[in-house]
Amino acid sequence: MRRYHPLARPTLVPLADLVMPWRARPFVAEGVTLASAANPNQPVRVSGMIVRTAAGDPDVDRFSAVCVRCPHEGCDVDFVADPGRLPAEVVTEMGQIPSEAVYICPCHNSAFKARDGERIAGPAPRGLYRLRVTRVSEAAVEIGEVEEDVLIFT
Ligand code: FES
Repeated sequence: MRRYHPLARPTLVPLADLVMPWRARPFVAEGVTLASAANPNQPVRVSGMIVRTAAGDPDVDRFSAVCVRCPHEGCDVDFVADPGRLPAEVVTEMGQIPSEAVYICPCHNSAFKARDGERIAGPAPRGLYRLRVTRVSEAAVEIGEVEEDVLIFT
C-alpha cells in the first residue's frame, strides 16, 4: 500500500488551468526528506504533473498528480495526450493502444497510465510516484501530500 506524507507546504494549482480533462499541467512541490532517508531532513523539490481525469464538479477524486521522475533510472517522463502517437515498439509491448492519455519515459520507453501513474510497459519497477490532491477550492487545486518513498529515496 502506498503511504503518503505531507509536503513542506501545499502546492496550489489554479483551477482555471485544469478545466479541461486530460490537459497536463506541470508543478513543483516542496518536501523535506524523512528522518529515515540517507540524507535526512533536507529540502527536496518534486517536479510533478497534474491532470483532470473527468469533467464535472471539481472534486479531489477528479484530479491525478504524479512525480515526473521515472522510477527506473530517473529520466523525466513526457505526457502523451493522444496514445495513438505512441512509438510502435511501446504499443507492441502493451499489446494494444491504450484508451486514455499516458506518460512515457524517453529513456527506455516505460509507459504509465495518466489516470493513476500505474506502469503499463517498460523496465520501470513500479508506477510513477504519486502526490495526493487534498483539497479543491473555488480557485485552486491543493496538492498536499506525496508518497513517502519520494522523501526517503530522493
Ligand atoms: S529511465 Fe525511464 S524507462 Fe529507464
